[in-house]
Amino acid sequence: MAKRVFNFNPGPAALPLEVLKTIQEELLDYRGTGMSILESSHRGAEYEDINNQAMALARDLFGLGENYKVLFMTGGASTQFALVPMNFIGDGQVGAYVDTGAWSSKAIKEAEIEGKMHLAASSKSAKYAFIPKMSDIKVPGNAAYLHITTNNTIFGTQYQEFPNPGAVPLVADMSSDIASRRLDFTKFAFIYAGAQKNIGPAGVTLVLVRDDFLATGRGGLHTMFSYKTYADEKSLYNTPPCFAIYIMKLIFEWIKKQGGLAAVEKVNRAKKDTIYGMVDKHPEYFKGTVEKGSRSWMNLTFRLPSEELEKKFLSEAKASGFVGLKGHRSVGGIRVSLYNAVPLEGAQKLAEFMETFMKKNP
Ligand SMILES: Cc1ncc(COP(=O)(O)O)c(C=O)c1O
Repeated sequence: MAKRVFNFNPGPAALPLEVLKTIQEELLDYRGTGMSILESSHRGAEYEDINNQAMALARDLFGLGENYKVLFMTGGASTQFALVPMNFIGDGQVGAYVDTGAWSSKAIKEAEIEGKMHLAASSKSAKYAFIPKMSDIKVPGNAAYLHITTNNTIFGTQYQEFPNPGAVPLVADMSSDIASRRLDFTKFAFIYAGAQKNIGPAGVTLVLVRDDFLATGRGGLHTMFSYKTYADEKSLYNTPPCFAIYIMKLIFEWIKKQGGLAAVEKVNRAKKDTIYGMVDKHPEYFKGTVEKGSRSWMNLTFRLPSEELEKKFLSEAKASGFVGLKGHRSVGGIRVSLYNAVPLEGAQKLAEFMETFMKKNP
């Protein structure tokens, strides 16, 4: 039996053990084909089946009808930052953005390259410690869309309610909280997520796009930069990241088997309550870095009384089998990433470790 740690990496992140085992079992001989799915043609029946099933599972999981296309793309969420404004901002329009952290800022930078960015709200002046109030998000009438980052992986904040921009389509980067809780996904015209946190390995980016929004896409773009290509060709215009999509399909099945997003949400709630519970029990020692109403369930950030103690905490945690807890280099401190594949036991053991560490290092 392989020795496994409690993996709190911010992404790429923990994958479900059950899924890893299936991958291992199917690696050399995929379902009687005598070869690995890694070696199979993306035009073959086995891969076509994976592609179709992954799309159907995504629709099912997110409660989306046939009026949404499920696309599998490459280039990570960072490529989406560029493709969204490139495809969807038409003549005389702007892309409206809410700036809630490093990833929003990078998305904004790409819209600025298009020369058509409108800042709808920002929490930058407060070091991104909160999600702006919905009433503070101002969307101009000529906005092609309103872009939000539903979970801010680095700063540890997350939307608990969503803006309603009326007729303006809502676009969301859900890279770090997709499939972690129940949502009305039909509120969004366009959702994208790099898979490597909650739904798979690095290499595939999931896109969910509503047909009416897709239809507003600009023509005349290079083939691989146009969402229409992926929609028309079922993401098989060129060679897709087959293995990553296969793993994503296994993860969708794993979520479904547990009882879907309701079941996953229940466990995620218990996990975040366990860690925030410890932070709130000893607030003078574990200092939360964001406003309580904006706290992320996925990336929980806090500081210790000194940087020396933080270093000691990280090295002792690692020695005890808890890895990936270092805060992002731009903010420091501790960040506990509790994506779907992190078991409740991991959060419980970590909370015990936190309390013991605090008592030993007052
Ligand atoms: C919210 C968010 N958006 C975008 C990205 C960038 O994703 P990628 O590395 O897939 O381009 C990340 C990566 O951590 C992220 O957390």
